[in-house]
This record gives sequence, structure tokens and C-alpha cells, in this order.
Amino acid sequence: MNTPSTKIQRALVTGGSRGIGFHITEMLIKQGIDVCIAGRNSEHLENAREKLTADDEAKQRRGKVYIVPIDLEKPDAPQKLIQTAGENLGSLDLLVNNAGISLNLPLEKTTIQDWDRVMHINARAPFFLCQEALPWLRKSAAPTIIQIASVVSHAGYELQSAYSASKHALLGFTKAFAKEVQQEDIRIYTLSPGGVATKMIDSVRPDLDQEDLIDPQEIANMIWFLLTHRRNAMIDHITMRRVKKTAWI
Ligand SMILES: NC(=O)c1ccc[n+]([C@@H]2O[C@H](COP(=O)([O-])OP(=O)(O)OC[C@H]3O[C@@H](n4cnc5c(N)ncnc54)[C@H](OP(=O)(O)O)[C@@H]3O)[C@@H](O)[C@H]2O)c1
Repeated sequence: MNTPSTKIQRALVTGGSRGIGFHITEMLIKQGIDVCIAGRNSEHLENAREKLTADDEAKQRRGKVYIVPIDLEKPDAPQKLIQTAGENLGSLDLLVNNAGISLNLPLEKTTIQDWDRVMHINARAPFFLCQEALPWLRKSAAPTIIQIASVVSHAGYELQSAYSASKHALLGFTKAFAKEVQQEDIRIYTLSPGGVATKMIDSVRPDLDQEDLIDPQEIANMIWFLLTHRRNAMIDHITMRRVKKTAWI
């Protein structure tokens, strides 16, 4: 059997300092792909880079890791991030829109500031990151975007009205955008997880049994599958739910 491979050589992963983004980054650099990771906290980014490059034995085969401290809530962040990532990496084949925040509040108690924050980070930033990344991706041999959405892109969960709205927005613009660039063979995949063992789920759903949660490594494995199956089958969207959820949404 052939080892799966990809033409992707350079990637930007937002929110790569921990959780799902960290595992995606680790998977990419183990495959020799250079990755730029972005997040707000520079110390966390430095720690992640140290962990990702610590394995001496594998270093030869590993991709390089660049870090960009940036707050994606800011309106000019997408433009600045793509420019900096592009300059560091030299080119861009893959954008992973992973950074996101959750909000666990009844609609009645959600403030305008809460709403704006969630919408800006989870929906506006990925929208304009896609826009800014396009000129770079058009020069790539395997232009690809991966959107980390959520099961709440498809359903409404109580106490998550603003979060659900932001993830519906992410999915909605992605569907339209994918059609706009389809003829250019820019592949856009949306992955909708539910219940992944990260810091985010710890704060939002401390009631969940750790045993039932998805290992973030499984998300990274699914992404590797998508990146290495660039064939004539069009895969748009994948939902991955924790073990004890009923099948289908
Ligand atoms: N965990 C789950 O069960 C689950 C389920 C469905 C969907 N998701 C989605 O998966 C993605 C990753 O979630 P996760 O569970 O890995 O979360 P996490 O552990 O909280 O990690 C979030 C990452 O995003 C970065 N980030 C947050 N706000 C940011 C901002 N304003 N600007 C730049 N970076 C920012 C964080 O770094 P800093 O804090 O340093 O900024 C961190 O690297 C999110 O989009 C989330 O909605 C998660």
C-alpha cells in the first residue's frame, strides 16, 4: 500500500498553542510541513513551539514552527496574520481556521460585548482570514482551507446561543465561499466536532465524563486523511461526536 502523501508544505494554524490546534500542528510538522501557529498568549505559543520541536530524533524530518502572537478579535488581525505568516513561511498551502472561544450563558444574560467577542473571533476572523489567504493559496499546488466548526453549527444547544450563532455563521459563509472558488480547485473542508478533550470543554462542560470525549489526536488524524485524499471525490463536511451522543444530529 502507498504511504499517503500531500503536496502541502506550508500551513497556518490559528489557535495552535493548545487543544485541537496543537494536535493538528504536531501532526503537520511530523509530516515535514512548516507551520505558523497563532494565538493571543506569546508564552503559550513559545511553550508549544518548544514541545513541538523537542524530539531530537525526529528533528531532521520535522517541519519548522513559527509563532505569531495576535488577538483575532481585532479587526485588522486577519490581514496582519496572513501577511506575517506568509512572510515567515514564504508561501501558504493550507489555512486551518481553528481558534475559537466558547460562551456558556443564557441568551437573556448575554451582553452585546459577549455577542461581539464570540462573533468576531469565531466568525469574522475566519471569514477575513479566508479572504486574505486567497492570493497566497492561488499560488499553491494544493490550496486548502480547513474550518473547525462544531456540532453547534448544525444544532442549537441551550446556554450556547451566541456560540451556536457564531458557528452557524462560520458554516454558512464557508458553503458560499466554497462554491465561489470551486473552479480554482481550492479545497475547503469543514470539520464539526462535539466533545473534544481540551481546555475549552473543561470550562464549558465539566459534567462530561473524560472517557467519553474525543481525543484531539483523532481530529488531527481525520485532517491528515482529508489532506492526503485530494482526489476526484469532493468531501465537504465531517461531523465527529463524542461516544455517548446519539447518532446523527
Ligand atoms: N473542545 C471541543 O469540544 C470543541 C467542540 C466543537 C468545536 N470546537 C472548536 O475547536 C476549536 C479549538 O477548540 P479547543 O477545544 O482546542 O479550544 P482551546 O483548548 O480553548 O484552544 C483555543 C485556541 O484558540 C486560541 N484563541 C482563543 N481566542 C483567540 C483570539 N482571540 N485570538 C487568537 N487566538 C485565540 C487559544 O490561544 P490563546 O488563548 O492564547 O489566544 C488557543 O490556542 C474552536 O474553534 C472550538 O470552537 C471545540
